[in-house]
Amino acid sequence: MIISASTDYRAAAKRRLPPFLFHYIDGGSYNEHTLKRNVEDLSDIALRQRVLNDMTQLDLTTELFDETLSMPVALSPVGLTGMFARRGEVQAARAADNQGVPFTMSTVSVCPIEEVAPVISRPMWFQLYVLKDRGFMRNALERAKAAGVTTLVFTVDMPVPGARYRDAHSGMSGPYAAPRRILQAITHPRWALDVGVLGKPHDLGNISAYRGSATGLGDYIGWLGNNFDPSICWKDLEWIREFWDGPMVIKGILDPDDARDARSFGADGIIVSNHGGRQLDGVPSTCRALPAIADAVKGDMKILVDSGIRTGLDVLRMLALGADCTMIGRAYIYALAADGEAGVINLLKLIESEMRVAMVLTGARTIADISPELLVRELNQAAR
Ligand code: GLV
Repeated sequence: MIISASTDYRAAAKRRLPPFLFHYIDGGSYNEHTLKRNVEDLSDIALRQRVLNDMTQLDLTTELFDETLSMPVALSPVGLTGMFARRGEVQAARAADNQGVPFTMSTVSVCPIEEVAPVISRPMWFQLYVLKDRGFMRNALERAKAAGVTTLVFTVDMPVPGARYRDAHSGMSGPYAAPRRILQAITHPRWALDVGVLGKPHDLGNISAYRGSATGLGDYIGWLGNNFDPSICWKDLEWIREFWDGPMVIKGILDPDDARDARSFGADGIIVSNHGGRQLDGVPSTCRALPAIADAVKGDMKILVDSGIRTGLDVLRMLALGADCTMIGRAYIYALAADGEAGVINLLKLIESEMRVAMVLTGARTIADISPELLVRELNQAAR
């Protein structure tokens, strides 16, 4: 399969993965309106072309939470990464490290913190979910700290999981899920050998390490529903703020009032996110939500954004709309599924070269030069 663009990896992943896994990562909630809008609205943002400015010297480096990033991109937390490639979290973290960007481990990863953090040279970021078992949360924070994690990403937009219709059809959940998955594995032998056989153990590594027994993946979706905590409110975050001495970033902000609350709470950053269109379908795309949030809190804390970013051009668009840094989730999982660590390295290189072209042709020499001035205001307003 020829990979010439960052977006080619989706088709490659579709070939390699058993359908229950492909549709889990590819799908969104309900009728997937927000999932589609994330991508389409973002590619509709019109860039302002500028020429004849001697653009030989470009600098993509970005300072964020006392770290230097080679470009304003980080890998988002994605549950079950280790099911998309053999020990997938290790491979993805290595790729991010190789390219000088942060890797964020999900609470519901396959590999535990202790398997991944030591294989990279930069500090790993860790994402924490609000689970009913607060003992687990404290244990995960202690282990993350011991492993040298600095930046904590606290996800708040999943007090209950959104319904993902595709999962029931694909065999991720629903009737006869187990035998259907076995059948799918048999018909996807490269995945079956690489991940199904050689990628074991298949469990929620962080949760198993806490419980002292394997947390199987048989009913992963049911597990999410049973263990996530809908009672969460800002007050519950206070003990975490006190415990965690590194940067704390709140993920899942889509409204300027919530961004202001995150600022009052003392967050170091927010991630403008609709969970990749996987939670409440019908909410705005992140590129539409971002400008009002930037108006409300830009400069007071770091603004990161995810959901819908597939290319280097998208990264530039999000920065021009007010973000300080972007995060990619699905985009890197497709590359990981297709070609492991090498795939993610190549994807990050493609994103970087796409960013360079976009910077040259919009006249931005540094990341600080990327501002709303790089957008065609009239066209973007007309599209709303
Ligand atoms: C978990 O975070 C999911 O979106 O499935």
